[in-house]
Amino acid sequence: MIFKRCYLSFIALLSIPTSIFAQTVKSPGNVKTAAVSGQQITITTDNAYAQVTVYAPGVIRVRIDKQPLATDFSYAVIAQPQTVKANITQNDNEVSILTDSVKAIISKKPFSVAFYTTDGKVISQDETGLNTSWVNESVTTYKHIQEGERFVGLGEKTGDLDRKGNGYTNWNTDAFGYATDRDPIYSTIPFYIGIHHGLNYGIFMDNTYQSDFNFGASNNRFSSFGARGGEMNYYFIYNKHLGDIITSYTALTGRMKMPPLWSLGYQQNRYSYYPETEVMRIAQTLREKKLPADGITLDIHYMDHYKVFTWDKERFPDPRKMTDKLKDMGFKLTVIVDPGVKVEKGYGTYDRGYAANIFAKYPDSTNYTGEVWPGWCNFPDFTNPKARSWWGAELKKYGEDGISGIWNDMNEIATWGQKMPDNIIFDYDGRKASHLQTRNVYALEMARSSFEGGKVAFGKRPFVLTRAGYAGLQRYSAIWTGDNRAEDSHMLLGVRLLNSLGLSGVAFTGMDIGGFTGNGTPSLFARWMQIGAFNPYFRSHTAVNTKSAEPWTFGEEVLEISRNYINLRYMLMPYLYSAFYDATQTGRPLMRSLAIDYTFDQNIYNTQFQNQYMFGSAFLVMPFEGTATMGKVYFPAGRWYNLYNGVAQSGAQDRLIEVSMNKLPVFVKESSIIPMQSLVQSTSQMPTDTLVVHVYQGDKNNNYTYYEDDGESYNYENGAYFKRLISYDAAKHAITFNKAEGSYRSKFKNIKVVMHGFGNGSFKLDNKAVNLNDDFVSFLTPLSKFDPQGSANAIEGEKVKSIVIKNSGEAFSINY
Ligand code: NOJ
Repeated sequence: MIFKRCYLSFIALLSIPTSIFAQTVKSPGNVKTAAVSGQQITITTDNAYAQVTVYAPGVIRVRIDKQPLATDFSYAVIAQPQTVKANITQNDNEVSILTDSVKAIISKKPFSVAFYTTDGKVISQDETGLNTSWVNESVTTYKHIQEGERFVGLGEKTGDLDRKGNGYTNWNTDAFGYATDRDPIYSTIPFYIGIHHGLNYGIFMDNTYQSDFNFGASNNRFSSFGARGGEMNYYFIYNKHLGDIITSYTALTGRMKMPPLWSLGYQQNRYSYYPETEVMRIAQTLREKKLPADGITLDIHYMDHYKVFTWDKERFPDPRKMTDKLKDMGFKLTVIVDPGVKVEKGYGTYDRGYAANIFAKYPDSTNYTGEVWPGWCNFPDFTNPKARSWWGAELKKYGEDGISGIWNDMNEIATWGQKMPDNIIFDYDGRKASHLQTRNVYALEMARSSFEGGKVAFGKRPFVLTRAGYAGLQRYSAIWTGDNRAEDSHMLLGVRLLNSLGLSGVAFTGMDIGGFTGNGTPSLFARWMQIGAFNPYFRSHTAVNTKSAEPWTFGEEVLEISRNYINLRYMLMPYLYSAFYDATQTGRPLMRSLAIDYTFDQNIYNTQFQNQYMFGSAFLVMPFEGTATMGKVYFPAGRWYNLYNGVAQSGAQDRLIEVSMNKLPVFVKESSIIPMQSLVQSTSQMPTDTLVVHVYQGDKNNNYTYYEDDGESYNYENGAYFKRLISYDAAKHAITFNKAEGSYRSKFKNIKVVMHGFGNGSFKLDNKAVNLNDDFVSFLTPLSKFDPQGSANAIEGEKVKSIVIKNSGEAFSINY
């Protein structure tokens, strides 16, 4: 008897681990059936259901669930699978998929997935023994961590450019004054890029539940991605060049539309400018101090007791009159909107929302009520199409008031207490989903509502800005990085956040220039303005209780420095606008981490150099703290010209350079083409009729697309643009302006081509010898008052050659 009991407990002991494993971690097991239909394989396994679909030659989608797969639905992905040549075969052990660019092997015993180049190099493979599994409702896929593997992207994530050794959570969070290592913060983009052995690939896990990514944090075995509910649903993307992975990713999740031109100008902001006289004082001061600007932004104090879609009538008695006056001065007005709608009978927006039954609800069908600025609020369920159109209708009033921009704040959703109950039910476009599934996608749908509503309400391109979001947000909105701090480390973190957003498909990004919380020093503000001039969205902002933080409040020297860089930004408007056009076509961001074009150069991941980035195709920007006097920088391979004096510098090396408060180190890549215009005080002002195209001598080819349109309508979608390819052919020593395309007439009658680094050489225009003019270029105005000795801080210039040509739209070429 005793023996039997002992024996039984021994057996029980032996079986404990297995049964615990079986109960707590479930895996798909072996493949039972695999049916191929066109580009899709439908699989059943011992414990799961899966589907593998070829989306494009280098894009393969994998879905796995414990239950039969639900009908497909995504807020992020807007693309259907392309018809692709895919050779799919199977035997007892595996299913093999071969496209023109990638090979995928689905092993059957057990179910696991691996991706290879067509010549058999491993790109990414499930970690043997772990593969994909569930712990309760959480599902995770484990990939073998490759030797030397690096990871970049994952959207708005703090930390270093290379995310190796770290783990991250996606759960949209109101992160007031966040620490530089805080995670998560505002938005969710579950897309990253892995880099190893000269290969790079992307993984986009499209699952809106709280998700977790592990890039070798506390383990030396795997990188993993998973979500706390829903199915495993990921897209594997392979391209040879990292930039093309962004292009493939944005083919799936969409690209931005052309933004309104004015939104690329400088935007002056604080929490909050009121009453109207204060707004007009700010506008007038910008003009008087000759600080070019296009936007003024109103924060929550413009509203009547923070009630969205209302005005405080005392502070702003006649909004339309004010926006008209501002327009006459060349300013557009952006106003903040919050999702919380005050519960108050007789308040039109609330009453209409209540009547339309569009608020998010508890399971007992009562409206969820949470507290935020106006007090107790209900929250529009933006995942309900009815709520989206209700929001659009509310926006009409803002259209009538002459508003041009919608700043979507607090949409994580932020509420006092920051603990939204799990059991709030959202429509999820008819599918019904809890807060757990909806939170990460709420802001995306709010931005969508503002974009779609704004288009109608404003009758023009609306400018839309959002604080939170999800993959695909680039289709509707720009994003800024929320409540940063007036500290050097935050300025540099901000650069990395924007670079990471760019790697993750979002081209239109910005941060609070000057810092939101706290009071910055003059040198910090000066540096931040310089960096801001090289950010896609250029807006200064500061919190409610801080000192004034307009460029003129930090003293005369900072004012001059700010003016210098805002001026440069405005002269660069044709370059910027063309870079935005590029983003609409390819998804390539404006702020380009060096990981995009110099992916396999290990130096660029060095934390000393990781903040450096390309702004568009031409500028290498080297951000430094405001007080830095010396700094180590890295020049990737190639030749680089100092923007300020034209001195050339060869790459693939680091250098110690002098840094001053007056100048941000910026270099121009060889063979660059940079279109510029004369200085204007706002984009509503006409520049002179000459487009200045700077060309930098180099050994590389460059195909540059110049783009222009009316800057405000969608007529470009019907061909009303002026677009031309300008190509630099290094071997042929030729710069060719190809024939312009489109029905729009350029605002520039002439083109002045400015040749940098070509010396006095002999030139030909359309094969006929031609003399170029001696010219002089200087991109900044000397800060004479502050540099009486003409020391190193004096602003240099460069002797160049130039020629003016009629801008008829016909082709011409210059040989050198
Ligand atoms: C939080 C936002 O992040 C900040 O920019 C804004 O000023 C405040 N809300 C007040 O609306």
